[in-house]
This record gives sequence, C-alpha cells and structure tokens, in this order.
Amino acid sequence: MSNALNVMKMKQNPLTLKGTDFIKVSDYSSETLTALLEQAYEMKRLQKEGIPHPYLSGKILGMVFEKSSTRTRVSFQVGMKQLGGDAIFLSKNDIQLGRGETISDTAKVLSRYVDGIMIRTFEHEKILELAEHADVPVINGLTDLHHPAQTLADLLTIYEHKGQFKGLKLCYVGDGNNNVCHSLIEGAVLVGMDVSVASPEGFEPNAEILGWAIQQAEVTGSSVTVTVSPEEAVKGADVIVTDVWTSMGQEEEKEARHQIFKPYQVNAELCGQADPDYIFLHCLPAHRGEEVTADIIDGPHSVVFDEAENRLHAQKAILKNLLGS
Ligand code: CP
Ligand code: NVA
Repeated sequence: MSNALNVMKMKQNPLTLKGTDFIKVSDYSSETLTALLEQAYEMKRLQKEGIPHPYLSGKILGMVFEKSSTRTRVSFQVGMKQLGGDAIFLSKNDIQLGRGETISDTAKVLSRYVDGIMIRTFEHEKILELAEHADVPVINGLTDLHHPAQTLADLLTIYEHKGQFKGLKLCYVGDGNNNVCHSLIEGAVLVGMDVSVASPEGFEPNAEILGWAIQQAEVTGSSVTVTVSPEEAVKGADVIVTDVWTSMGQEEEKEARHQIFKPYQVNAELCGQADPDYIFLHCLPAHRGEEVTADIIDGPHSVVFDEAENRLHAQKAILKNLLGS
C-alpha cells in the first residue's frame, strides 16, 4: 500500500474505539475510517504471513442472525478464532428472540455472557435498540438500511486494486434504496471518491443518507450524483458496483422488481462506458443474468472474491478495536 494508507501511521495514531458500537459508516470521520482500513490491511498481512495475532484471546462474540448469511457468518466466526477468541452462532429460530423475547432483554442477557454482539436483522431501529440496552459493543452485520462491514471490505478491495481513492469515480447501478448502496455512499465520500448512483425512480438512496453524503462530499472534495440513467452514471467509472434487485425481506416484490430493474443490468454494453481499467464489485450472493451478466462477474475486471475475502480482514480490524484491551 502507498503512503496514503501507510500501516505505520496506525501505530502513531491508535484508535480509541474500545467499547463502542459499529453501526454505520457515517459514525466515523475520514481519519478513523482510514485508520480502520490500515488496520484491516495489517490484519491481512499478519494472516498471510502466518504471524499469530491473538489480540482477542479468550473473548467471545455472540452472532445473532435474523436473516441468512454465508460470508458474514463465516468471516466473523473465523476472524474471532484467528484473533484468539471464539464466536457463537445464534439463529433467530433457535433463540427466544424468535419466540417474542424482547430485544432489550436479549441485549441485557447476552451482555452477561459475551464480549460483543454482532447482529444481522431487518429494521435498523432494532440494532439501535440492541445497542442501547447492551453493555458490550454491538456490531452491524447488516440491517435493511446499512451494511457497514461490507463497505470496509469494499474500500480495502478498491484501494488494493487502484492504489488510491481520491480522483476515482465509483458508480453503483441498481437498487439505490439498499443497505449495501447506503453504506458504500457514506464510505466512498469519506475517503474522497466521486459517487454516482443510477437507480429507477422511486428507488433512489435514502434521502437522509444522501443529504449527509452530499454535505460530506463538500468536506472531502468529492461529489455525489443520482440519476435514472445507468449509461450516464457509468461513464468513465473506475469502480462499478451492483447488488441484488430483491434484498432479504423483499421476496414478495420479486416479480415487480425484476421488471423495474431490467434496464439496470450490469452487462458488457454498459461497462463499455466505464474507464477501460474499471473494476467490478458485488457483495455477493449474486444472481447471474439478473443484476449482472456472467461475463462481467466472472470476467477479468471482477474482483468479487478478493472483496469477499476482505470481509475477514476488515472485520478483524473492527473486532480488535471494539473488543480488544
Ligand atoms: N455480502 C454478504 O453480506 O454476504 P452474506 O449474506 O453471505 O453474509
Ligand atoms: N442487499 C442485500 C445484501 C445481501 C448481503 C440484502 O439485504 O439481501
């Protein structure tokens, strides 16, 4: 990594996130986000070089899942183990939360057993309630509104492939009113990337998040644009991102969404408008032939598996800072 994300810097400016929650990207300053990325990079180096890094020896993470997961579940669990701790998978179907026990009681009880709680849930208010009542750090593993751990991994991936943030144009095509899109907009402007979002009318990003991002872009010297035209948004883009048209919890709208989002498919014709060296990101799971064609997601510009791997390294940085001593 270049000096812009110099891992030495983190040793001079240690983060002070111990005991805090990881809820959304916009809770952080540009400096803190950059420092977390530096630490994620350092976590990756330690793991790749086989250097033990038991920063969380003896610590336990409780992982509450109200929705399905492959990457989030496995990467948080493996991350805790690599850090010398452990994790407990708590499916909604197996714990009393699924039978009506309150979020606040769940938070108070889990806090007596574990050192941190990761939750994947529906309404964003639920994680806020959990955090209010928990005595240990609460980590967002995805809500309907935000997916901040994904953004940290995405930024790490972009930096690894592009070597910079400033001056890059990131384009998100598809459902703008989506957790992945919201967190990515927040993260991209904090590190100074220009963001363009192409989504159908009525599926624009959340107005409050967009308002914050537009203000923040002025501070970091970047820009945020929203358009209905995928061609316009992709023009000259260095990074193209998409996500599923139907997120978890929206299954009943699937057919209608298919019709609405069809013109927003990321395919070779659309990507032809991007910078010739563009990279393609998708948080996965993907639906080939829907939001992205197979030739793009399986093609030479795609970095989706680096992106998936980076969930592990990014989350270890979060865990170390929140749960570590
Ligand atoms: N990208 C992501 O969060 O994947 P999972 O749903 O498999 O956790
Ligand atoms: N937007 C998707 C992301 C899955 C990781 C969903 O919420 O289902």
